[in-house]
Amino acid sequence: MLMLFSLLLITSSAFINGLTNEIDELPKPCPSEIYCHGRLLETVQMARIFNDSKTFVDMKLKESPSLTLKKFDEFMAKFIDRVPDQNEIQLWVKENFEPAGSEFEDWVPEDYSKSPEILNKINDKSLRSFAEDLNKIWLDLGRKMKKEVADNQALYSIIYVQNPVIVPGGRFREFYYWDSYWIIRGLLLSEMVNTAQGMIRNFLSIIERFGFIPNGGRIYYSMRSQPPLLAPMIKTYFDHTKDYQLAIASVDILAREFEYWMQNHTVLVKGHRMAKYGDKSSGPRPESFREDIETGKDFPNDTEREAHYSELKAAAESGMDFSSRWFIDKNGTNNGDLRDLKTRSIIPVELNAILFWNAKIISEFYGYANLSDKQEEYYQMSEKFYKAVEEVLWNEEAGVWLDYDLINEKSRNYFVATNLSPLWMRCYNPSKRQYISDRVVNYINENNLDSFPGGVPTTMNNSGEQWDKPNVWAPFQHMLIVGLDNLEDDRTKKIAQEWAQRWVLSNYIAYKDTGAMYEKYLANELGGHGGGGEYEVQKGFGWTNGVLFDLFDRYGAVLSSSGVNLDQNF
Ligand SMILES: *[C@@H]1O[C@H](CO)[C@@H](O)[C@H](O)[C@H]1NC(C)=O
Ligand SMILES: *[C@@H]1O[C@H](CO)[C@@H](O)[C@H](O)[C@H]1NC(C)=O
Ligand SMILES: *[C@@H]1O[C@H](CO)[C@@H](O)[C@H](O)[C@H]1NC(C)=O
Ligand SMILES: *[C@@H]1O[C@H](CO)[C@@H](O)[C@H](O)[C@H]1NC(C)=O
Ligand SMILES: *[C@@H]1O[C@H](CO)[C@@H](O)[C@H](O)[C@H]1NC(C)=O
Ligand SMILES: *[C@@H]1O[C@H](CO)[C@@H](O)[C@H](O)[C@H]1NC(C)=O
Repeated sequence: MLMLFSLLLITSSAFINGLTNEIDELPKPCPSEIYCHGRLLETVQMARIFNDSKTFVDMKLKESPSLTLKKFDEFMAKFIDRVPDQNEIQLWVKENFEPAGSEFEDWVPEDYSKSPEILNKINDKSLRSFAEDLNKIWLDLGRKMKKEVADNQALYSIIYVQNPVIVPGGRFREFYYWDSYWIIRGLLLSEMVNTAQGMIRNFLSIIERFGFIPNGGRIYYSMRSQPPLLAPMIKTYFDHTKDYQLAIASVDILAREFEYWMQNHTVLVKGHRMAKYGDKSSGPRPESFREDIETGKDFPNDTEREAHYSELKAAAESGMDFSSRWFIDKNGTNNGDLRDLKTRSIIPVELNAILFWNAKIISEFYGYANLSDKQEEYYQMSEKFYKAVEEVLWNEEAGVWLDYDLINEKSRNYFVATNLSPLWMRCYNPSKRQYISDRVVNYINENNLDSFPGGVPTTMNNSGEQWDKPNVWAPFQHMLIVGLDNLEDDRTKKIAQEWAQRWVLSNYIAYKDTGAMYEKYLANELGGHGGGGEYEVQKGFGWTNGVLFDLFDRYGAVLSSSGVNLDQNF
């Protein structure tokens, strides 16, 4: 305990400042007194000079951090009897910072192909021309960092990586961890193999530097991760290229990331070691500072407020920020709002199935390296996760997998798209495939999942949060479609194909109407794009486009630009 205590102090700037209150014992989101914590960050973020809080923490410093902090102290000293107003703060920021996004230079990927082979797989002419446009969008989403970023890291919040990346788009102008899985699948189908490999190599180098992969490519994300999909990215790349060398060269690094999840994210549940999302830093999220202070206001004391900030950050780590999925109210239901976030007390289905998948892939790669002990060790690990998912999360009554509530020690019987995620990773006993297919078809019918023209909503609860009804997100449509197709059952294969048709058409109609690809769409309207949450609707969009290429690859021969069948009985 004492050792842990002093370890935390060393990484905390509180040590440097000599402050020792309880909260300062937790490390800050990052050491930077400009981008992650401190009076400057608080003053600028609370002044609300930008609509989006993320803008400020993405701006480049004109001078060194110490000089900037000194100039800030001088600036503040001019206001002895009042705080500076919004205008004064805005002017000061303009004087001392470059606009957000100044870390990049123009870049055209050398492996860009104008007419990748995948286009010939698409029979419908309009959809083929849509895919041609999507292929061109990769050019808009490519980002290469200037060399000077590497030499002057202290002036930037961006985490330097050597190879150019494809970003999600809009306010997301740096790499994001789990987004990259679907982006890389799309890039490979667009024949941008080197770009995909460069992104993978960036991630490997980041694990070597950080011990894990942060949520996204900014230092203010450096105390939390996202659903760990690097092993599946490399597996996708391997399946595409048969690059044994990369698989073998990355396997120890993947094992290191796996250990990070085992060490820092697991608890014992009914005798099984299972993973949950979390965060061990103090304070609000720097990129949503004002928003977090707002929801934190209602808590009675700093201890409770810190716990709330941790719940917000844990939900951000899940990638589903925010959702009623993470609410547990006093009665143990998913009623409530952000103040009821209890992400750290929920065992999520997809995270445990993803760790099963990681262990399986790591075992496979150790096999290629002829390290049979390691191969066996990770195979056993995958079996343990499979058993935990089956024994703790499979719910016989509901006929599906459900998240588990650690506070009330019960399954959470609410629809979340991730309830069906084990189908995607094949995290089930293959000999029970027929039984699981029957139960899953039943679950789909009972929950009317086929009744939505624009795709399956994330949950059935309209909370106003962006990972709730009516929003539909590409990664989950992909997960559902691939999972149902994997079951090799006539009914589930038919549902998968129909949902692929619906999703592609919805994306296509929105694109025809507005000329843009979106981060999220609407369940109740073919071609409607989503809203809600804490920032404006984003366009681009990396994972949406990646998922479309994957669906064109699977269903290109049968997809059509003219219609869907609703409310079928399977
Ligand atoms: C900020 O948001 C308001 C209201 O939505 C809008 O009118 C304004 O143009 C936005 N400002 C900027 C700089 O985007
Ligand atoms: C993960 O846990 C280990 C062991 O408890 C600890 O030493 C390490 O600092 C943690 N890593 C992170 C990034 O939190
Ligand atoms: C903070 O508030 C909670 C809830 O009212 C209470 O249980 C706890 O003892 C308080 N902690 C401190 C340090 O005051
Ligand atoms: C919990 O349930 C009781 C009884 O049904 C109800 O009166 C109360 O409002 C509920 N509390 C919350 C937080 O929903
Ligand atoms: C969430 O939706 C389910 C139906 O799927 C419903 O039973 C439940 O009461 C809803 N909860 C809230 C908080 O709206
Ligand atoms: C593993 O063993 C096989 C069979 O002996 C051999 O062909 C292969 O080169 C070995 N691979 C490595 C990475 O050592």
